[in-house]
Amino acid sequence: MTHRLSVSRAARLAGVSRAVLQAKISRGDLFTFEGKVTPKDLLRVFPGLDLASNTELDRVTRIKENAFGKRIRERVLPNPEVLMSRLRIATQALAISKIKLARIDRIIKNLEVLYLENSNKANGADEKISTNALKQIKDFLFEEFNDTGIDKETAPVMAKDELLKIMTGQVTLSPGGKEFFVSGNDSILEAALGAGINLNWGCSNGNCGLCKANLISGKTEKIAHHDFAFSDAEKASNTILMCCHTPITKIELEAEELGLSTIPMQKIKCKVKSINLLEPDILELILQTPRSKRLRFFAGQSVSLTTGKNLQRDIPIASCPCDDRNIQFHIRQNDKDGFAGYIGHTLKPGDTITIDGPTGEFIYNEELTGTALFIAADTGFAPIQGLIEHTMAVDNAASIELLRIQASSQKPYLDNRCRSWADALDELAYQVVPDLDAADFAIRQLIQEKQPAQIFVAGPTDSLEKLKASRSLSKQNTKYLAVAPSGYQESN
Ligand code: FES
Repeated sequence: MTHRLSVSRAARLAGVSRAVLQAKISRGDLFTFEGKVTPKDLLRVFPGLDLASNTELDRVTRIKENAFGKRIRERVLPNPEVLMSRLRIATQALAISKIKLARIDRIIKNLEVLYLENSNKANGADEKISTNALKQIKDFLFEEFNDTGIDKETAPVMAKDELLKIMTGQVTLSPGGKEFFVSGNDSILEAALGAGINLNWGCSNGNCGLCKANLISGKTEKIAHHDFAFSDAEKASNTILMCCHTPITKIELEAEELGLSTIPMQKIKCKVKSINLLEPDILELILQTPRSKRLRFFAGQSVSLTTGKNLQRDIPIASCPCDDRNIQFHIRQNDKDGFAGYIGHTLKPGDTITIDGPTGEFIYNEELTGTALFIAADTGFAPIQGLIEHTMAVDNAASIELLRIQASSQKPYLDNRCRSWADALDELAYQVVPDLDAADFAIRQLIQEKQPAQIFVAGPTDSLEKLKASRSLSKQNTKYLAVAPSGYQESN
């Protein structure tokens, strides 16, 4: 029997994104059988696969540190209880396999003895036939026993796969079959959000019951206490709270993803976590939602912010739901504008701001797995940043192209962050153009070469109008979001 790996698991072992592996499969470089890859084939396509180091951990750490600017908590090792449960299951499986192998070994040896005894005694034609049949059975079992599909080369791949199973849990969602991995001390819910999957939830601490899901197969461990009480029917049907459980084996869960229409409008009082100067005139405002009431939104959407002085503005969110409880905004400093002046001079960490929202349809379509092209002018980069982080988290775009339009000779703000994305991810390319004519030229080239499945353009209204008029962008697959130089959302 040949061992096979799911595409997600093979991508983790090779240390590449699922999209890169999918591209190799569609080009015919890598073969699959029933959607699975053999370790041998994986080694053929990635001969340099470094099994000594933990490629996946290196990759995740690199992305988190470089691209996400350490905003996401490090969560690499599971807690000791979860680790022990996974080790116990792995050890049990190993012990069972050893017993089975020893039994098969004994059967083969007994057949060998029987065959030798019978062949010495066999006289008549019938006896010879039954002796030959005995030999055929023994040879068949011997071949099956030895032909595990694993050789010296592929054994390290399988060993590393087993190690990954201990380090991370794997979840498959039903319906839909989406897969994601649960690392460190994350709950299933946290891991799903981190993977860009919008499941239903409310409090994230075991009170509301909104994150209920049916465990179809596999085992989970409770990692947090919950006050929510299950009905008898729910208890009988293996219902778990995703915010309080983590997988200890590969699991299949019945849980539905939220759509744009199912995300409710929310009003949440948030604390100011930090106000950072990105450029002399651009502020990064980071708000933190309460633990028990996080904002449910799609990357690229906007919210309305209201300060203690009742100053209010609609602003695109600059982060993705994968960024834990942090909600980020980019605002241009301007003392003549009451809101920006208040953020820049009066507001301080620990103060309260109220979020109302989310609104808008400037969101990534996960069904379209080709190239995603992102075009940002000025503070239009804010929603584009959220979308790119989401696209990285979802990990299904064949490639990501980021084009920033910067009119002055200076670098665009957060240029280093964009460069670190391009350094960390082979499938992400970044370029800066000096004006709209150059942007038009670059867009034409990208469309011709990459044929993007979806295009996002955000920036001031006049830039959007010029780009729309240039005809390089098709209407069908392009979404626009008007963001004023102040960082506030304008009506398109
Ligand atoms: S999100 Fe409320 S109980 Fe899990």
